[in-house]
Amino acid sequence: MIQPFATRHVHCLGAPAVGQSEILTAPCFENMVSLLDSFSRYSVGLAHVSLIFPTRTLQVYFMPKLTVQGVGEFDVRAGKRLVKALIEDAGTDQLHACGGQARCTTCRVKFVEGEPKNITEAEKETLKVREVKESGVRLSCQIACDHDMTVELISRLEGSGRKDQGSPVADEIEPAPEWTTR
Ligand code: FES
Repeated sequence: MIQPFATRHVHCLGAPAVGQSEILTAPCFENMVSLLDSFSRYSVGLAHVSLIFPTRTLQVYFMPKLTVQGVGEFDVRAGKRLVKALIEDAGTDQLHACGGQARCTTCRVKFVEGEPKNITEAEKETLKVREVKESGVRLSCQIACDHDMTVELISRLEGSGRKDQGSPVADEIEPAPEWTTR
């Protein structure tokens, strides 16, 4: 079952942001069809819609689209760690040797589109220490899928000589993220 990433009341028809759950109350109910039309306009991927009577509540769950070059496009649960989406949703052999702790850089990917502006302090420090300077290269274990993004796989098990992809990765970003900008 899809869980809402966030919930808020809206006052009129609008295009909800990716990852948000909108609850439309009665005045907005008449605009439901138009709202549904907006899904394709904003290319937000799958929307799970449930209509609950008699409260006339429409709940819409938005899922960001993850595009992995050479692999495909995937609707991902909003807020999911990118490294987990690459493994579980896209089915890739993305490496993650340290288990998503921002220590190894084997989870790095290259952003083609949608590189996040924010970055965890841990990622920033590791990229600096490991001298990862190439534009668009980021640690997928430190990124949440909260908008559409396109990445290129640059660190896969295949050809790495490693015995496995890495240690298990927790659902939440670790270490506890402190957000900053690059
Ligand atoms: S830095 Fe090791 S898995 Fe991300």
